[in-house]
Amino acid sequence: MHEKSLIILSSIVLVLVVSASIFAQTILKKGQNSPSQIVAARKFAMKMLGANVGDLTGKIKTGNFKGVAANAGSIAALATFFPLAYEETYADVYPVQGSKYYYKGGLPDVGAAFENLKREAQALMRLSKSNDKAALEAQRGKMLGACGACHKLARGEN
Ligand code: HEC
Repeated sequence: MHEKSLIILSSIVLVLVVSASIFAQTILKKGQNSPSQIVAARKFAMKMLGANVGDLTGKIKTGNFKGVAANAGSIAALATFFPLAYEETYADVYPVQGSKYYYKGGLPDVGAAFENLKREAQALMRLSKSNDKAALEAQRGKMLGACGACHKLARGEN
């Protein structure tokens, strides 16, 4: 490649990197309103986990095993987002109207806890290709164990 086009290419890459990091700072900056926004976002995402569990439970019950893949995939994807949102407790934001729950903190390793959920969701996703209802139910239970273990440890209730 010519030197000139290399320079142009690298400045395009630089602009993209800079704008991506400015975007991230705007969303996650510790400004006046952002802690409440982060808490709202993570609660919303938790509710999405709940909705996906409800949906996939129905699909297993009615024999739509292939349909479980979309829900398990969403749960796995959400699990990669969560560690960003659970770096801090944001105790000042609570109580939040319309929700009795809060984040107590105290997780020894937030990343590992969500990584564990992701692994269980991915295992469920793989099983959705099988026709094995008992195995799907067992893996659903194992995945819910990852939700429950964390709730017991890190979720407070007003
Ligand atoms: C690593 C910890 C952790 C894992 C794993 C986890 N949760 Fe949560 N969950 C929390 C915490 C903390 C809260 C409190 C929300 C907050 O205020 O940030 C919560 C709240 C919730 C809520 C209530 C939302 C609200 O109003 O606060 C639902 C529903 C929920 N979780 C569902 C799930 C489901 C379903 C799973 C598994 C598929 C799951 N969670 C996995 C920590 C976890």
